[in-house]
Amino acid sequence: MSIRSFAGIAVFALAASSHAADPMADAEMMKLASASGCLTCHSIESGKPGPNGLAPIGPAWQDVGKQYAGKPGAGEFLTRIVLEGSSPYSSHWKGKVSGLSMPPNAVAITEGNARRLVDWILALGR
Ligand code: HEC
Repeated sequence: MSIRSFAGIAVFALAASSHAADPMADAEMMKLASASGCLTCHSIESGKPGPNGLAPIGPAWQDVGKQYAGKPGAGEFLTRIVLEGSSPYSSHWKGKVSGLSMPPNAVAITEGNARRLVDWILALGR
């Protein structure tokens, strides 16, 4: 593990401990998600409809957290998908969301911040 990623985890652990009670109410993560454009397509809580009452464009992050929490390597796996986008030919959320695939977000967010959001998303499913 590089010093940089270790420092990232330390910072995350610190941030997480100050908001330990309710991960859903993490204002810092909400701000990062909003500034990175994620919330155009994702809601945090499950069960929220998308525009026009259709299925949401992307899966609610609570559902993503439930789907992947506890799976080994989920953090790296999801960070890659967030940065590079997903393939419309192998949708992981087919039938549950109205978007076919996620465009690459690497233009809007750094790898470190993508990982911070993914770690938060995974914590939402616990
Ligand atoms: C233009 C719409 C859009 C934006 C913007 C967007 N997403 Fe997504 N996202 C999607 C869709 C659609 C899916 C479902 C893809 C699938 O079915 O495989 C998805 C899936 C995901 C998943 C689950 C991946 C999987 O394979 O299960 C994560 C995690 C995620 N997004 C995080 C983010 C983060 C973090 C951001 C902001 C940096 C972001 N998304 C921005 C549309 C978007």
